[in-house]
Amino acid sequence: MEIIVSGMRPTGKLHLGHFHGALVNWLRLQEQYQCYFFVADWHALTTDYATPQGIRESTLEMVMDWLAVGLDPAKSVIFRQSRVKEHAELHLLYSMITPVSWLERNPTYKEQMKEIVGKDLSTYGFLGYPILQAADITIYKANRVPVGVDQAPHVELTREIVRRFNQLYRPVFPEPEVLLTEAQKVPGLDGRKMSKSYGNAVFLSDPPKEIDAKISRMMTDPARVKRTDPGEPEKCPAFQLHKIYCTPEEIEYVTKGCRTAGIGCLECKKIMIKHVIEELAPIRERRAQFENQPQKVEEILASGTQAAQQQAGATLAEVRETIGL
Ligand code: TRP
Ligand code: SF4
Repeated sequence: MEIIVSGMRPTGKLHLGHFHGALVNWLRLQEQYQCYFFVADWHALTTDYATPQGIRESTLEMVMDWLAVGLDPAKSVIFRQSRVKEHAELHLLYSMITPVSWLERNPTYKEQMKEIVGKDLSTYGFLGYPILQAADITIYKANRVPVGVDQAPHVELTREIVRRFNQLYRPVFPEPEVLLTEAQKVPGLDGRKMSKSYGNAVFLSDPPKEIDAKISRMMTDPARVKRTDPGEPEKCPAFQLHKIYCTPEEIEYVTKGCRTAGIGCLECKKIMIKHVIEELAPIRERRAQFENQPQKVEEILASGTQAAQQQAGATLAEVRETIGL
């Protein structure tokens, strides 16, 4: 069976952007492949080493959401990166064979160095981040890595490291392929990308009232100032949610109503809000069960750790043997 590996930084409660951008895809993959899904808590440290206080809590919040949406520990291996130290050993070995220039030309590295202000990112760990990611992926001999476009360069670098390793020693690792997530674009309440840090997110754990309140004041086509002004759905951020959630009939009704000013924005949104609430209701219910027994979540992570360690340990034994250590 093909192997899939993907990780997510622990950012706390997940929102609709994570759900449609990654999780829906993960759920599909866990039915067809042997999947390893992990909390990339070491990766979180590469940028947040000075403020690590939230990492543990964020990990639990995030894993509760994973389980609530239906990631299934009976099908997928779910664990914390920092509990499987073999990742660190492979990272070290890869660091011996990875030219610094490969890391310095990494587009994400260059971009984040410029964009993230207020943090000193001139660290070894931040530069070496893609080497750690290469270790995460290849330690399970992954064939495919489901990620968004922003992560594609990292997987490309992983392939280069794998080629170099296989060439220097002997072929141990398959070259993993990017499985580009066909992300449904979910705009935030203000029309920008949905993000916790922008304060524009609908969380998977939001209660129905809050979902209703949040989306009711979500940005619409700015041309619709008055109820009598016609609008254009394609210029309306809220309509992106209609596209995800509504039936073709509803889409047609709303589109026509918008362009002719036949319906108001609130009426229009209510049609979609109903579906969002319906979709999130069972997720919230399942999450509530885990909230009441966080030790259950820890147990799931612990048994995932064991399974991951077993595989990672076997790979490492092979790697040590191959290098001759
Ligand atoms: N770098 C990824 C991110 O920030 C998280 C990640 C770490 C990852 N290791 C990985 C993703 C391995 C896929 C495979 O989102
Ligand atoms: Fe958007 Fe609907 Fe308002 Fe049109 S009527 S601007 S689609 S919310």
